[in-house]
Amino acid sequence: MPIEYVVLGVLVLIGLIALRKLMRYKSLHPLLPRKYNFGKRRDTLKETLAMLEARRARTLVETGTARLGLAKTKGDGASTIVFGLWAQRHGAHLHSVDIDAQAIDESRRAVSEMDLIDSVSFHVSDSVAFLESFQDPVDFLYLDSYDYDRHDVAVQKASQAHHLAEFLAITDRLHEASVVLIDDCGVPGGGKGKLVIEHMRANGWQILMDSYQVLLGRMPDSAASQIGGQ
Ligand SMILES: C[S@@+](CC[C@H](N)C(=O)[O-])C[C@H]1O[C@@H](n2cnc3c(N)ncnc32)[C@H](O)[C@@H]1O
Repeated sequence: MPIEYVVLGVLVLIGLIALRKLMRYKSLHPLLPRKYNFGKRRDTLKETLAMLEARRARTLVETGTARLGLAKTKGDGASTIVFGLWAQRHGAHLHSVDIDAQAIDESRRAVSEMDLIDSVSFHVSDSVAFLESFQDPVDFLYLDSYDYDRHDVAVQKASQAHHLAEFLAITDRLHEASVVLIDDCGVPGGGKGKLVIEHMRANGWQILMDSYQVLLGRMPDSAASQIGGQ
């Protein structure tokens, strides 16, 4: 085969690989610079933030803090930075709870470096106990605590039971326009959301977006925007 064809073939292959990489590269620009890749979570995060804006969300609560700040946007999601930034820009406030004091310290450091500390409160606690004691109406709930395991069924069951317990602990503080996002659902065994999604669907919640993360609400944006942020 002539050498020109071989070179052309190699160039086409390199081009296709670069294109595939580019298509999988998903940033949250303009919230964060393009260099941060949110991969499989980008689309659900983007839709969630748009819904929070439409519903004028003010109180955001997350279980499982982003101990790595922006260092693992693709692997972990950098939730505390993403929701903290959104909160700062929209006059809202994020509560981040984690059972691990070191994780909270590291997350607080990352949040401080981003100058977001006035928009985020940190709580060292078991998430269920924290949610049971939380008194304010919750406009947005993000569930991402007890780690899931793709292979260990006992861990899967414990993680799913924990996320259901979290939802039950805060359910009285959620309202008609609240939005709930659950991480790590698109994995073998149903992920963190399996039990809580079953429960929510049986109690009037609808799946608004079903992906690696699952987004749920009780009413469309058009109706929710009338009552959001109360
Ligand atoms: C997957 S990480 C959270 C990732 C984070 N949301 C992010 O976007 O980077 C899970 C976190 O949940 C915490 N966790 C595990 N069990 C918990 C519990 N019972 N209560 C509160 N936090 C818990 C862990 O300490 C860990 O920091």
